[in-house]
Amino acid sequence: MCGIVGYLGKSSAANILINGLKRMEYRGYDSAGMAVLNDGIIKTTKKKGKVSELERLVDLSKENSTIGIAHTRWATHGFPNDINAHPHSDQANKITIVHNGIIENYTAIKKKLTLDGYQFKSETDTEVLAVFIGALYERFGDLEYAVRFALSEVDGTFGMLVLSADHPDMLIAARRGSPLLIGIGDDEFVAASDAAAVIQYTKQVIYLNDNEIAIITRDGYHTKTISNEDTISKIEQIEFDLEQIEKGGFEHFMLKEIFEQPETIQNAFRGRLLVDEGDVKLGGLRQIQEQLRSAERIIITACGTSWHAGLVGEYMIEHLANIPVEVEYASEFRYRNPVIKKNDIVLAISQSGETADTMAAVREAKQKGATVLGIVNVVGSSIARYTSAGVYTHAGPEIGVASTKAFTSQLTVLSLIAIMFGRMNTLSKYEGIKIAKELLNIPDKIKKIFESADKIQQIAKQHAKAKNFLYLGRGYNFPVALEGALKLKEISYIHAEGYPAAEMKHGPIALIDENMPVVFIATQDEIYEKIISNIEEVKARKGKIIAIATEGDTRIESVADNVIYIPETLPMLTPILSVIPFQLLAYYTALELDCDIDKPRNLAKSVTVE
Ligand code: M6R
Repeated sequence: MCGIVGYLGKSSAANILINGLKRMEYRGYDSAGMAVLNDGIIKTTKKKGKVSELERLVDLSKENSTIGIAHTRWATHGFPNDINAHPHSDQANKITIVHNGIIENYTAIKKKLTLDGYQFKSETDTEVLAVFIGALYERFGDLEYAVRFALSEVDGTFGMLVLSADHPDMLIAARRGSPLLIGIGDDEFVAASDAAAVIQYTKQVIYLNDNEIAIITRDGYHTKTISNEDTISKIEQIEFDLEQIEKGGFEHFMLKEIFEQPETIQNAFRGRLLVDEGDVKLGGLRQIQEQLRSAERIIITACGTSWHAGLVGEYMIEHLANIPVEVEYASEFRYRNPVIKKNDIVLAISQSGETADTMAAVREAKQKGATVLGIVNVVGSSIARYTSAGVYTHAGPEIGVASTKAFTSQLTVLSLIAIMFGRMNTLSKYEGIKIAKELLNIPDKIKKIFESADKIQQIAKQHAKAKNFLYLGRGYNFPVALEGALKLKEISYIHAEGYPAAEMKHGPIALIDENMPVVFIATQDEIYEKIISNIEEVKARKGKIIAIATEGDTRIESVADNVIYIPETLPMLTPILSVIPFQLLAYYTALELDCDIDKPRNLAKSVTVE
C-alpha cells in the first residue's frame, strides 16, 4: 500500500504535504514525492528512500504554493527509484497524479498510447494513467471528464489525486478499492489515504465510496460517481486524537503500542460485558440476531496476524458454542470455490480494514449469500463499510508495521463473540460469568508481564545472533507460536517457524542443535505434561529452551534455559497474555540487531494489493 495526500487551501501546501507523508509513512517507505503548483507550473520533487530524503530536497521556507499532492510509495510496479516514485505526469507536464492501488490493464493502455506517439519515463502503471488522463484532457479540454473517462476504462484499484497546471483552484480525488478521505477544514481541504494525515487540521471528514470522485475547489467540494451521477456524502468525525499517532516518549511506535495493551484491551470490552448475566452486548451485531442464532457454521477469514487471531477464535467458539468453525487465509478463500450454505456466517478479521485479499473474500462470501461480519480496527475502512454487521476493536491507530495491540484486541473481541454464540447455544450462565470476570482482570495481568521487560531484553540479547528460531505451543497457544514466529521474522529478519509442539517430532526436530533457540509456551493447563515432554525432547538434542510459563511453576526451571512467567488465567484467554513476551522478545531482538523496527524492509502496514 502507499499513502497519498493532497492539499488545497490558504496555507503553504508543501509543509502540510510533508507532514502528512510523515504521518502516513508506515503505509510505504520505498520512495516519496510531492508536486506543487505555482504560476501555472507544476514543480515535482521525488526521491528514492524515506520521506526524510525528500524533505532534504525541499526548502520549506521558500515554498508558498497553496495547492499540491504527495505520495509515499510501497513499490508494486517497477523498482523503488527516483523515476518510479510518484507523482507521475502526463507528457506535457500539465497533469500530475498520485495513486495508491494497481491499474491491472495498464499494459494494454500503454501499448495504445505508445502507438499514438506518447512516451513514458517510468515502469509504473500510474504514469500510464497520468498520460492517459493527459491525452483525454488534450482531446476534450475538460479535466473532470478526462478523469472520469480514464477511470471508467481502467481495471484495478485506485485511491488517487489529480493536480492540473490549468486549474490552480481544483484538486480531483477518486477512489476504487483503495481508501481515500477528505478532511474539511476552514477554507481548506486535506485529502488523504489515512485519517492520520488529516487529523492535525480537522476532524471532519468524508469517506469516498468506491467509484466515486470528488471535485474539490476553494469554495467547496462536489462528489459524484465516475459515471457522472451526483452523490451525497455524510460528514463524519475522526474518532482518535493527535497524540494517539505520536510516539509519546517511546523510542518506537511498536513499543508504545505494546505498552498500550492494558488500555486497548479494556477499550475492546468496555460497555460490552454483561458480567452478572454471563453474557455480552454487541451493538454492531444487534440487527442480525436472527441469523446469528441460526448459524450452523462459522468461517473466519483473514491474513497474517489477523489470521492467527482467527485460529484462536476457532478454538474459543467451538469450545464455548459447539458450532463448527473453519479458518481460511483470505487469499485462498477468494480464489477457490468455497462452499457457503444458507446458515453460514463469514467473519472477516482485519486491523486496517483495507487488506485486498480479505476484502475480496468478503465480496466473494457476500456474493454467495453469506451473512458477513467484520472485526475491524479502522473505523470507516472498506471492510467495515462493506460487511453486513460487525464489531470494532477500538485499539486506536496502529502505526508500527508489526501488529501488536490490534492482535490482542481482536482476541478480546473474539472472546466476546464466543461468549455470545456460547450463550445462544451451550454455554451456561455460570461459565459465562467466570469468563466475563476474568476478562476484566486481563489488563492488570498484562501490566504484571511488563515487569519482566528487562529480563526479556536480556534473553533477546543472548539469542540475537541465532539464525533460526522455533516457536512451539499447543491448543490455544499454537496460534500464538505462529504469531511469535511472525513477529520475530518481520522485524529482526531472523528466520523463525511456529509449529504445534507435538508436530516437532514429525520433521522440525531435525533442525535442532546447540545453536537453535526453541521457544515454548508451557502454561499450566491440561496439556502441560505433554509440553514438558516436548521440551525434554529438545533438551536431549541440546536446543536452547526459552519457556513462557505460569507464575509459580518452579518445575519448568529445571528443563528450560530461560523462563518468562505470565499470570494464570483461563486457557481460552491465555493467548492474550502469552503473546506479550513474544512481542517484547521480537522487539528487543530487532533493537539489538539495529533493525528499523517500525518500518521493516519490504513490508507495508496493510497490503492493499493481491
Ligand atoms: O490489516 P490486516 O489485519 O488485514 O492485515 C493483515 C496482515 O497484513 C497483517 O496482520 C500483517 O501480517 C502484519 N504485518 C503482522 O504483523
